[in-house]
Amino acid sequence: MAQADIQLQIPSAAFYIEPVRAFVGNLAKSLGFSRKRVADIQLVLDEVCSNAVHHGSVNATVGVKLCISIDTDTLEILVRDTGTRHAGKKSWLTHERLSEIEMNRSPNNESGHGIFIAKSLSDMHEMKTNASGGTDVRVVFRFLKPRDIEI
Ligand SMILES: Nc1ncnc2c1ncn2[C@@H]1O[C@H](COP(=O)(O)OP(=O)(O)O)[C@@H](O)[C@H]1O
Ligand SMILES: [Mg+2]
Repeated sequence: MAQADIQLQIPSAAFYIEPVRAFVGNLAKSLGFSRKRVADIQLVLDEVCSNAVHHGSVNATVGVKLCISIDTDTLEILVRDTGTRHAGKKSWLTHERLSEIEMNRSPNNESGHGIFIAKSLSDMHEMKTNASGGTDVRVVFRFLKPRDIEI
């Protein structure tokens, strides 16, 4: 069990990503992350939330959930969407599709940079299909030194 859990839900619209980004930025700063790391965390959050809104939501009303967990040595962010698949259709999270996304990433291609950024800048990045047929993306950022948080 984490030392503190924060849950947020936003409409699936890009407009609401910026306030969440500001909140998480302030939180990371208060937790003692360096300015560079705060910027990394915000960028990753931006990319993961944009994907949940643009690729993982049928419309704005379905919403995107965020579960933020603070522990002695980690800040973990889980972004949960409800997906756009029709019943019975295969999840996009196949080995083939992920390899294709990775291989298509190039200077001339607009797509495929978000997952790469989230993977590169976080200490742990995990994508899973969830119970509603959407995607759960979990990213973890480690404190340089384990902290002793008083809550
Ligand atoms: N939450 C998600 N739900 C469904 N598909 C996703 C999700 N996140 C990413 N994808 C798929 O992975 C692809 C690559 O994502 P990304 O690297 O962020 O690039 P971009 O969003 O610019 O296409 C997307 O085009 C989409 O097909
Ligand atoms: Mg993206």
